[in-house]
Amino acid sequence: SGTRKIIIAIDGPAASGKSTTARLLARKLGYTYIDTGAMYRSVTLKAFEAGLLGHLQDHPDDATSLLEGIDIAFEAERVLLDGKDVTEAIRDNRVSRHVSFVSSLKPVRDTLKQMQRAMGEKRGVVMDGRDIGTVVFPDAELKIFLVADASERAKRRYTELVRKSGGSNNVPSIKELEQEILQRDRSDAERTHAPLKKHQDAVEVDTSGLTIDEQVALVYNLALEKTAV
Ligand code: DC
Repeated sequence: SGTRKIIIAIDGPAASGKSTTARLLARKLGYTYIDTGAMYRSVTLKAFEAGLLGHLQDHPDDATSLLEGIDIAFEAERVLLDGKDVTEAIRDNRVSRHVSFVSSLKPVRDTLKQMQRAMGEKRGVVMDGRDIGTVVFPDAELKIFLVADASERAKRRYTELVRKSGGSNNVPSIKELEQEILQRDRSDAERTHAPLKKHQDAVEVDTSGLTIDEQVALVYNLALEKTAV
């Protein structure tokens, strides 16, 4: 008996704990963590900087010019867009507000899907997003669908924002954050191309009452079952 390298797909709605769980799980397994939301955010930032966001509303096919030769890389937990460190820039609110639109465009999804498949080719990856188990790697050995109550997700986002900005000034209220989260859930689930949905083989994990340690331990045990041969 031994171990084999597998692909672990973690999908779920905004602020369900995907990225924290995926990052820590990858560390424990010695796997590569790939945050596909960061890739959609990088394309959004690039569209924004090129002044193309408005234009794309009426000409979605023109996204191809933006995507040609685009280089998105993960290095030492930093996100590099065309060689530039955009780790903080892609978390900016102007990016968050437009990322659902940009990620609904077919050329964007097609290009990123190809990039993600290439990144996972050698296996040994934990990839998180909305369509990893359903579209990108439907043959992933382990598929997790993380969910949590919207009120719980809003509280987590609030705590994170307060921590990052060093206080509650300029941080939206928990109620406002909950409205934003529900709005994003709706647009991600209702879009035509690769909407957020649970694959029939995915294990649903509700993180509402769980600590981070508990949710990581839970998925780690599921992973061990799958890597054992
Ligand atoms: O996980 P996140 O909040 O950083 O993702 C940002 C947006 O990108 C989210 O609103 C939906 C989109 N996304 C997607 O459409 N498909 C993915 N695989 C990952 C993210």
